[in-house]
Amino acid sequence: MSEPSALPSQNDIMDRQQDDIVARQYEAWVYPPPIHDMVDAITQGYYEYADIQAGGPIFWPRRRDFNDLDILIAGCGTNQAAYTALRNPSSRVVAIDISQSSLSHSQYLKDKHGLDNLEVRHLDLMAVASLDKSFDFILSTGVLHHLKEPDRGLQALRGVLRPAGVMHLMLYGKTLRQGVYLLQEAFRLMGLGQSKEDIDIVRKTLTALPGRHSVHAYLNAKDAAEELKYDTAIVDTFLHGRDRAYSITEIFDFVEENGLAFLGWMDRLDCSGQANFPANDAISKRIKRLDERKRAAIIDLLAYTHGVHRFNLCHPEYLQSLPRIDFEGTEFLHYVPRPHSRLKVSWTRPADPDSPAILEREWHLMPISHPQALLIEHANGRNTIAEILGLLDGQSMTDEEKLHLARQTFATLYDMGHLLFSVF
Ligand SMILES: C[S@@+](CC[C@H](N)C(=O)[O-])C[C@H]1O[C@@H](n2cnc3c(N)ncnc32)[C@H](O)[C@@H]1O
Repeated sequence: MSEPSALPSQNDIMDRQQDDIVARQYEAWVYPPPIHDMVDAITQGYYEYADIQAGGPIFWPRRRDFNDLDILIAGCGTNQAAYTALRNPSSRVVAIDISQSSLSHSQYLKDKHGLDNLEVRHLDLMAVASLDKSFDFILSTGVLHHLKEPDRGLQALRGVLRPAGVMHLMLYGKTLRQGVYLLQEAFRLMGLGQSKEDIDIVRKTLTALPGRHSVHAYLNAKDAAEELKYDTAIVDTFLHGRDRAYSITEIFDFVEENGLAFLGWMDRLDCSGQANFPANDAISKRIKRLDERKRAAIIDLLAYTHGVHRFNLCHPEYLQSLPRIDFEGTEFLHYVPRPHSRLKVSWTRPADPDSPAILEREWHLMPISHPQALLIEHANGRNTIAEILGLLDGQSMTDEEKLHLARQTFATLYDMGHLLFSVF
């Protein structure tokens, strides 16, 4: 008889998966709803949050370009593999999933768009070491919270992350999804499975709920209603075989207990006290001096900001080598800011003193002064902040006033995630 081995083999893991409730669900109900032409979809505005090209400095504040990377997508579902390969043509993408139906759709998109830089593999992420490769970027969104042992899943991914690599995760959040879990429990008690009839009962229940039910916070959130038109989204949200959610505190514990370091949120807007509870408000003042984690936890508890947490991780040693973005001294004058890809600033020209410029992104809208709008206009990913200040010559301000304006404006827009900063 052979000795039992400490680690299960790839075959053992895949065999076990055949019986797994999550594997069976994603075989029958692929997620997200398949996109049939990714080039068309991107032209019409489709995007993924963790887009390496758009998010650049959020992942690597010291990199000048974001090409020639080895990318792993762990639990790619239907569309993410093709999207990532298309958006990163000079990088190599390996996409794995336990659902053969999802992989078939990824393969269809690969063939359709001639994506030679994409490899799709039927593989459980617990067995990712069997690829015998390491990666600069690991993307795993909406996957680890479905595992029996999310900690072991994260450890497996950590094992294939290069020393200066970055991992992006999306995990469910507790606050906004509170009502979802109440409904999941009710549907379990009703004995619902994942059949068409069961989906129909969910839909009927959603229309019959009293206005006071906490699920309405979730149903009214951006994109939820559009998503839930699809049966697969009803299954994924309300009839899932296994999912769990994380509070902000649990996110940090999850990361650190599994040997990784928290690099930052994908979008700082949802955790920003100034954006959620505008300045001068009692809440903003009270939490201003707390550390970033506590502030984020408080904002989430008060504002229900997190249906999901999107965040980036790296090895602790790599984090040590990175600059801390900080606007206290004068170091920030060397930062190179660029706008978030979906930031809009509108103002009338020539500047009308009676109508401020308007800054807008996602759910956030804020009036800003014309000199602030000018600062943002010159934040193009090439100029340092010192150079941008040099471009403000036409404005009747002393050097000290300009410095003050820059510090206050860039610190605020960093806090809200509206500008991204590189440090070379
Ligand atoms: C909610 S979908 C998310 C798909 C994709 N990441 C996205 O955000 O569009 C979850 C996917 O993870 C896959 N999955 C679940 N457990 C997995 C595991 N242990 N290894 C690899 N893939 C897994 C499922 O088959 C499914 O395709």
